[in-house]
Amino acid sequence: MSIRLRLAVVFTIAAAALFSLGGWLFITQLSSALLSSIDSQLSAQLAQAGRYLPSSGSPPVTSNQGAANPGLGEYLVQVIDGSGRVRGASPDAGTQSLLSAADLRRAATSTIVLATNAEGEPERQLAAPFSAHAGWVAVASVSLETYDHTRGDLLIGIIVAGAIFVLGAGVGSYGLARAALSPVERMRREVAALSEQEPDSRLQVPRTKDEIAALAGTMNDLLARLQQALARQRAFVADASHELRTPFAVLQGELELAGRPGRSREELQAAVRSAADEAARLARLTEDLLLLAHSDERSLPLRPVTVDLGSLLAQSADQARSRAAAADVRCDVEVPPGLEAVVDPNRIRQAVDNLVDNALRFAPRGSRIVLAAAESDGSLVIEVRDSGPGFPADFLPHAFERFGRPDIGRARDHGGAGLGLAIVAAIAMAHGGRAVAINRTGGGATLTLELPGAVRAAAAPGYTSPQ
Ligand SMILES: Nc1ncnc2c1ncn2[C@@H]1O[C@H](COP(=O)(O)OP(=O)(O)OP(=O)(O)O)[C@@H](O)[C@H]1O
Ligand SMILES: [Mg+2]
Repeated sequence: MSIRLRLAVVFTIAAAALFSLGGWLFITQLSSALLSSIDSQLSAQLAQAGRYLPSSGSPPVTSNQGAANPGLGEYLVQVIDGSGRVRGASPDAGTQSLLSAADLRRAATSTIVLATNAEGEPERQLAAPFSAHAGWVAVASVSLETYDHTRGDLLIGIIVAGAIFVLGAGVGSYGLARAALSPVERMRREVAALSEQEPDSRLQVPRTKDEIAALAGTMNDLLARLQQALARQRAFVADASHELRTPFAVLQGELELAGRPGRSREELQAAVRSAADEAARLARLTEDLLLLAHSDERSLPLRPVTVDLGSLLAQSADQARSRAAAADVRCDVEVPPGLEAVVDPNRIRQAVDNLVDNALRFAPRGSRIVLAAAESDGSLVIEVRDSGPGFPADFLPHAFERFGRPDIGRARDHGGAGLGLAIVAAIAMAHGGRAVAINRTGGGATLTLELPGAVRAAAAPGYTSPQ
């Protein structure tokens, strides 16, 4: 069932219920007001019942005549003695007691109200002790025909008005719901018509400044984000294919050359070595891409354990030692003794190795690279500092982007695929932290991993890195 119809049905049922309740309250209030007005008329008649007693000397009424039905608005009044004999009566009231023996007994002690039915006509009677004579009772009776007619007419009027009102409410609420929801239907059609080929298309935002306009705005924001993500994804795939194409082409060339007749043993060995290098490069690239894909899905697997940062960074420095020696660069580790943190040691090693790998490429001969770790407000801060030229200023904000390389680094000789820092950022993010790159004022670059909450409570005192 559509929302419009559901709203209309609910509104109609609610309107019918409310109107019925209101009508019922109105009729009961009016009925009780009418009845109490009739009762006060009856008691006024009772108060004057004495005037129907025969004057002294005249004989009491003896005939046994029944009361006629009172005309509209006409009151029948009787004064009845303790034995049920009618001592006095208004014209038409007859001489037969209007009260039964039981009612007479009750009325002898207190005022009673009776609803009776004389020959199919509803009547109301009020009986009370007759004040002028102990043990006697005065009774007044009036027809309720007018009252019943008034009530019936009113009821019909209320039912007719109610039906019109409820019908109007139903139709009106359906129309209102339809008008209010028509922009939603339009938006649904627009969204259904959106296609991947036109990622720029946006929904029309109504000028109403209401919830629906806000929804359209939010959906447009979502579309813009999706469009950016799609563009990033496409660029990533394009860059990845581009990066994979080169080693594949080299590999293919080497293998073709090696397959030609008349190759010397040395040439063959060189070709196999080169092919192995390209295969290793391909394997590394594929692993990097896989890691980034996991990071996109927020499913980069982590195995956090408590590790000693001193030995972790020392392993990275040891691994880089031979390359550092060849480049005449020193690798120093600066970690407060006993600094422990809960991290995935393999991933952190991978990140630090990537940073050291970059630093080694840029550190000038005779300089030193510092691998430092410290605690700061419960966060683990790992830094790799070098004294190289630092990042080109315009590239610094893009340093952690995938395949991000400054223009001068585009040539393959100047480095790798441009995934190293993206992986560092993904590893920091998987640990709930972030990676930051800065150029120090004195020269050189500092790359920092900030991992909040990683340091164990009994950590060594903080360490402040010299700038
Ligand atoms: N310590 C540094 N000093 C100066 N520039 C740096 C430094 N580290 C990285 N860069 C610049 O940032 C670019 C991106 O680095 P990143 O590690 O992401 O990629 P890469 O080293 O070129 O390739 P990969 O790491 O995938 O083999 C580098 O090409 C380099 O130009
Ligand atoms: Mg790198």
